[in-house]
Amino acid sequence: MTDDRYLTFALGKGRLANKTLELFEEIGITCEEMKDKNSRKLIFVNEELKLRFFLAKGPDVPTYVEYGAADIGVVGRDTIVEENRNVYEVLDLGFGKCRMCVCGPASARELLQHHERIRVASKYPNIAKDYFYNKKHQTVDIIKLNGSVELGPLVELSDVIVDIVETGSTLRENGLEVLEEVCPLSARMIVNPVSMQMESERIRGLVAKLREKLEAGV
Ligand code: PRP
Repeated sequence: MTDDRYLTFALGKGRLANKTLELFEEIGITCEEMKDKNSRKLIFVNEELKLRFFLAKGPDVPTYVEYGAADIGVVGRDTIVEENRNVYEVLDLGFGKCRMCVCGPASARELLQHHERIRVASKYPNIAKDYFYNKKHQTVDIIKLNGSVELGPLVELSDVIVDIVETGSTLRENGLEVLEEVCPLSARMIVNPVSMQMESERIRGLVAKLREKLEAGV
């Protein structure tokens, strides 16, 4: 019925998008146009399957999906939780696995035990606030940074940070460690709630195929 309509995907730029496209290829969804690394085009189309893809900055992916500018998005769970948009999270893609953690120098460990009012630097102020206020019931001052968050404790901007830890090497090389784990993370597929109804068959079919592939071990 709605086969004439393009299904639009917003993919978080970078490694996540590459991994997503590899996975899509495994289930027969290709987008040759996107493979040209020199292209400055922003939107790529698979005419045959009526699919459109675009790359966006991670934090913008849930925004495109909430407003219906994209039917489907792929982005890290960190971004989904931080942005808190009205979208459905339908699938854990399994890659991009890492952890959201409270990190700092070993000496900061005891600051987390005694409900002290400490300073917390993070690129994820909402996640940090939720963790300290709602889970730990600790009043803290949150300082928003946009990257290289590990600098916070090193230059005494903050006592600890809330940040992503993947291999742990950034922490190790800077004399910091994981003090507490906030939550596990990985790449997720999100869907616009209206699209989920209007394009139910196509989207459910796609999710089922992806799930089957992931369970079989890509
Ligand atoms: C992320 C994260 C950590 C680092 C963790 O930063 O914020 O800094 O990766 O990875 P590791 O445990 O493997 O060392 P990213 O490289 O995305 O850059 P950013 O610091 O600008 O956010």
